[in-house]
Amino acid sequence: MRKEKIMNKPKNTRRDFIRHAGAALSMPILVSARALGEQNPEKPALLGGSPTRKEPFPSWPQAEKIDQDLFADSFRRMEWCRLYGDITTTFETTWAEKLGAKYCTGVVNGTSALYAALFALDVGPGDEVLVPPYTFVATVNAVLQQYALPVFVDSDRETMQMDTTKLEDRITDHTRCIMPVHLGGSMANMDNVLAVAKKHSLSVVEDACQAHFAEWHGKKSGTLGDIGCFSFQSTKILPCGEGGAIVSSNEELLDKFHAFQNNGRDRKTGTRHGYQYQGGNLRMTEFQGAVLLGQLNRFEEICRHREENADYLTKLLEDIPGISRAKMHEGCNRNTYYIYMMKYDQEQFGGLPRDKFTNAMNKEGIPIGSGYSRPLNQEPFIEKMLSSNAYKRIYSKERLNRYREMNHCPENDKLCNEGLFMSQTYLLGTRQDVEQIAEAIRKIRAYAHKLIKT
Ligand SMILES: Cc1ncc(COP(=O)(O)O)c(C=O)c1O
Repeated sequence: MRKEKIMNKPKNTRRDFIRHAGAALSMPILVSARALGEQNPEKPALLGGSPTRKEPFPSWPQAEKIDQDLFADSFRRMEWCRLYGDITTTFETTWAEKLGAKYCTGVVNGTSALYAALFALDVGPGDEVLVPPYTFVATVNAVLQQYALPVFVDSDRETMQMDTTKLEDRITDHTRCIMPVHLGGSMANMDNVLAVAKKHSLSVVEDACQAHFAEWHGKKSGTLGDIGCFSFQSTKILPCGEGGAIVSSNEELLDKFHAFQNNGRDRKTGTRHGYQYQGGNLRMTEFQGAVLLGQLNRFEEICRHREENADYLTKLLEDIPGISRAKMHEGCNRNTYYIYMMKYDQEQFGGLPRDKFTNAMNKEGIPIGSGYSRPLNQEPFIEKMLSSNAYKRIYSKERLNRYREMNHCPENDKLCNEGLFMSQTYLLGTRQDVEQIAEAIRKIRAYAHKLIKT
């Protein structure tokens, strides 16, 4: 029996999704209303019909009594900082065990986990790190934070993950590390990543911030490379407001990233022999550890439920031309759907631009976002870093110009115009909820020829 639910925040995802909606650029090819299947008598809400859905989807994050009790207990103990308590340590041991990794260190957030990982691998000025352009900005910022160069590897539009068949084209004498991102709960092709890394003696940091419990050939994401990084920010499927973790099975790396999050203190000897490492303060608090231990109690159960609904939606979408779930690589045997990622084919919707589609879905009571609709490799902050005094001191003019010339990801440019992201919270309810999502899409497709004029 489910326990009492508490502290559910009112959801406000609609505005967020709309905010991220980008304009579709491809030219519409008009398809007749009949071809689109306008047999559906129900009009879309945008054309005066009644919205498919009036109730909100389940809110997120969710908390139950056990979370509140563990949190209150951590508060009452008055050992709020992890230096004085053992709750964070318990979370670290538990998370490592659940993943099948030897070691885990908690940190304040996923971005810090990436910083600590690159520090532990001694990635620094002059080095190049291979990253995907279709990701959250933190992946790239972590590389720039070390004054290294983020070298973008184009995207695979089918899976929306880094196209790992293009990794080798980007390798130079300066390449130190590959940082695949497992986007949306699915996974980048780790067979290719590991093979290329081995061939060229590169380190691998898996950015698994969106892929808790995703699996590649039965192994959990974050445990295949040298280091794996997680985020427990509020929207993540394992949330505690803000939080992160670094996992590894290499003790030497553990020593380094563990020290880094604790101002450089040695993991075993503290400061008895002085500060052995440089570091910052990225320590996870005991409160964060407590909430995560609470959340872990039903994490697997919620994941299973979400995945069942995701499979059902994928099946329903098979009958709707023009919208499909992002493909999964064969090796990915578990997708935990932090985001239900879809591809939108404008032609199949009678030329209806993607932003008009998302607007119509919003009016149906089912807001859907456009994913990463701006190519990250072309964001102004990258050029600002390249033009900064620090970068000009580290890199020759010729090298920076070569970097600029190579910084093109044509497939990703297209992907930015065809992605659709749906929140994982839509998959936490009933099968009827899922049917409504498909119904709204069908309705919009049937009336696309009219919606195009809105
Ligand atoms: C792929 C990816 N990497 C890194 C991060 C950074 O995590 P955090 O927000 O916890 O700093 C995120 C957060 O959304 C992410 O999606």
